[in-house]
Amino acid sequence: MVKAMLGGDRRVVVLTGAGVSAESGVPTFRGRDGLWRTHRPEDLARPDAFAAHPELVWEFYNWRRELVRKCEPNPAHLALAALERAIPNFLLITQNVDGLHVRAGSRKILEMHGSLWQVRCTVCSHAREDHGDLPEMPECPVCGHLLRPGVVWFGEPLVPGVLRLAIEAVGKADVFLSVGTSSLVQPAASFYQLAKDHGAVTVEINLEPTPSTGFMDFALHGMAGDILPELIAGLSD
Ligand code: NAD
Ligand code: APR
Repeated sequence: MVKAMLGGDRRVVVLTGAGVSAESGVPTFRGRDGLWRTHRPEDLARPDAFAAHPELVWEFYNWRRELVRKCEPNPAHLALAALERAIPNFLLITQNVDGLHVRAGSRKILEMHGSLWQVRCTVCSHAREDHGDLPEMPECPVCGHLLRPGVVWFGEPLVPGVLRLAIEAVGKADVFLSVGTSSLVQPAASFYQLAKDHGAVTVEINLEPTPSTGFMDFALHGMAGDILPELIAGLSD
């Protein structure tokens, strides 16, 4: 049934979370492997943690960059890139910062929470894409102040333009897929409701039920790397 809805000129919007990268070996935030040493990501991915212990937060992000460099896009990422090529009206909105969707070939994408591969100055407007090895406390080449990861942290607002584009697309979707997210963190956790309020068919693809499961039109529970390739099989790439 869900497979049939992905064809034609329907507007399809997909929201992804950390679960889509789990099969690539990237730890999720709230799964068993979600800890880094004895720290929860929630304790490090925050402005106050960075202000108090910038060296620890940079150590955490340099560890994540090093880890993700060794990871490859998995069949879930590749299936979403193929889905984008197969249908004219498609948008991928990801909460992930690992860049694996782009490496898999996705181009119609909003990286809502920024990217591990972006750094920006804590003082001036310097910002850049950087895939290299960063020092423990990277400094701005323009003003010499400390750089920070180009990631949206707890307690920080999303980039307004990005949030507006996401809300606009979700509000016009005919089909909304929520893939590999625990649906616990706002504003992404409210997107399915916005889609539903505008008449979209809503589908959850997740390893286990989430607080949104009961509100979805369809809930497919299992590995995204198994379910997504099956769903898009037969769509012309
Ligand atoms: P939060 O509860 O502070 O809300 C995040 C932002 O979303 C706020 O600006 C809030 O005004 C807005 N918002 C809340 N509900 C909304 C809704 N229903 N519709 C539209 N906008 C809504 O979130 P948080 O837990 O403090 O995290 C802040 C942001 O940082 C979130 O987007 C979160 O996902 C993100 N984050 C990213 C990482 C990472 O490592 N990438 C880690 C932690 C948090
Ligand atoms: N296939 C499908 N779903 C999976 C898989 C898989 N192989 N592995 C894990 N999952 C599911 C888990 O069951 C869980 O519900 O993915 C979800 C991951 O949830 P979280 O770890 O909470 O990650 P996410 O939903 O992306 O977190 C949202 O919170 O920490 C902040 O900003 C950060 O972007 C993150 C946001």
